Amino acid sequence: MSAPRETLRGFYDMTHAYLAEVADLWVASWATTMPAIDFEARRGWFVDHIVAAMERGETLRVAMTQTGDVAGLVMIDPRSGYLDQIVVGVDWWGKGVAEALIGEARRVSPRRVALTVNQDNPRAVAFYKRIGFAVVGEGANPTSGLKTYDLEWRPAATE
Ligand SMILES: CC(C)(COP(=O)(O)OP(=O)(O)OC[C@H]1O[C@@H](n2cnc3c(N)ncnc32)[C@H](O)[C@@H]1OP(=O)(O)O)[C@@H](O)C(=O)NCCC(=O)NCCS
Repeated sequence: MSAPRETLRGFYDMTHAYLAEVADLWVASWATTMPAIDFEARRGWFVDHIVAAMERGETLRVAMTQTGDVAGLVMIDPRSGYLDQIVVGVDWWGKGVAEALIGEARRVSPRRVALTVNQDNPRAVAFYKRIGFAVVGEGANPTSGLKTYDLEWRPAATE
């Protein structure tokens, strides 16, 4: 996997200026992941969701390419360690950007990062397991009814 440092300019706080580009990336990435669902129809929900999280003071970080494009977004509540969103542009899959975004999440929540993932999202499940997340529970999405895993990462105990 190539090092994102070589290809990314860095990580920046999410602002309203990035909203349209992040929404485009979110729609395209999710449409590729779950083609049966109309994510374009959910664009408005996503934008409202992101704006509300910014207003609540949650941490939202965007990965920026050397050419000034957004490559991905992570959103985590530093108070609870709950990671609500991580999304990487399809062109950036498999290049270490997602792992670097998780690094941003761990930086603001170093004791615990928790999230829920659809069980039929094998790419995401494989990604989380590879970087040290463990399944701590199961459930179902209240809207879609799809089965989910509750995943959690905690730092390894050190002496
Ligand atoms: C989830 C996401 C952030 C991961 O980023 P990524 O750059 O694609 O992740 P990586 O390529 O580092 O890791 C994916 C792993 O899944 C593996 N994989 C891909 N398709 C797979 C499949 N169908 N079954 C099992 N494993 C699969 C890849 O081989 C890779 O593992 P490896 O590195 O050990 O080979 C990104 O795919 C994304 O934005 N997806 C859409 C949004 C989403 O699902 N967000 C998570 C919601 S909880």
